[in-house]
Amino acid sequence: MTENPLFRPFQLKSLNLKNRIVMAPMTRSFSPDGVPGTNVAEYYTKRAAAEVGLILSEGTVIDRPSSSNDPNIPHFYGPSALAGWQNVIHDVHQAGGQMGPQIWHMGVMDNHRSGWLPSTPFEGPSGLLNPETTNGHTMTESDIADSIAAYGRAAADAKRMGFDCVEIHGAHGYLIDQFFWEGTNHRTDQYGGKTVAERNRFAIEVIQEVRRQVGDDFAVILRLSQFKPQDYTAKLAKTPQEMEAWLQPLSDAGVDIFHCSQRRFWEAEFNGSDLNFAGWAKKITGKVSISVGSIGLSGEFMAAFRGESSQPSSLDELLRRMDRGDFDLAAVGRPLLADPNWAEKIRENRTSELKGFSKEALSILV
Ligand SMILES: Cc1cc2nc3c(=O)[nH]c(=O)nc-3n(C[C@H](O)[C@H](O)[C@H](O)COP(=O)(O)O)c2cc1C
Repeated sequence: MTENPLFRPFQLKSLNLKNRIVMAPMTRSFSPDGVPGTNVAEYYTKRAAAEVGLILSEGTVIDRPSSSNDPNIPHFYGPSALAGWQNVIHDVHQAGGQMGPQIWHMGVMDNHRSGWLPSTPFEGPSGLLNPETTNGHTMTESDIADSIAAYGRAAADAKRMGFDCVEIHGAHGYLIDQFFWEGTNHRTDQYGGKTVAERNRFAIEVIQEVRRQVGDDFAVILRLSQFKPQDYTAKLAKTPQEMEAWLQPLSDAGVDIFHCSQRRFWEAEFNGSDLNFAGWAKKITGKVSISVGSIGLSGEFMAAFRGESSQPSSLDELLRRMDRGDFDLAAVGRPLLADPNWAEKIRENRTSELKGFSKEALSILV
């Protein structure tokens, strides 16, 4: 399998990966009071020991009073949570892996089903969860400045603790994406505007601050999506020109790697070309990109939350696109959530041992 483009090494700044397989960030809610314990460290370490090139952590939230809607989602601030993460990266390195935390602020959220609420109301560009629903307060300029500083502190902590890179979560309808999207950003100051290029300012300032904190040689990944859980058909960029107006300033601000989230990686982003989102991001910015979305599985992840099962599927189309140079890295979510040995099985061509995915896998940490 040495010809397999998934198993070519990859080097960029602080990253030295043995292969191109990335574990996609996946929230697990197994960190009581925001502190990841030894069970979380074991979970990631098993993937590191079984051929995953780069592990991205589940989203882990920044130091803002309402950055999370779930008490079991890990923090990336405070002595106890950071000590937990220090164990995680220590063990992952011992097992020969590389890892970056996914730094997250959820923005305006639905209340958690348990009834738990953060100490202050959710915050977002316009207090909106979706175009129809308000469930939080509109951020002031000082809220915005404090949030940007908190992203920067988290990135600085990641570097100081020995992580190999950092990923900023700008996708899936959470805080940064709430600024990008016209459906949730109705601001009339410099953080709002009619075009995505105008609504880009918050993200640009986050990336600039992160870059300032980590220096030039530490890899910074930005995760983006066109779709929102609030609206699968939403498109921040409807044309390649709009995508350029969105991504180029983010690239200039210091993004090294664009992590382009789709529900199905094979879907073309625009008419007239079969390039997907990661393909366009790389073509437009010249930066490295990661593709993701139903790699090796028959069904997509949002449907999985509703109970739909998926079966293993061929990687041929992924490999065709990687061979063509469309994107550099491939992130895999559910297959690695359910099976720590997925990457090893792919490398060793043990396809008959691959498992499908069903909703039950979400409730355990294997
Ligand atoms: C249980 C679960 C939790 C997820 N949590 C996050 C998250 O914290 N941050 C994020 O950017 N994406 C998250 N995602 C999306 C995944 O990173 C990935 O993009 C998606 O599952 C598609 O990949 P897959 O088809 O290989 O599963 C989550 C997905 C799943 C299944």
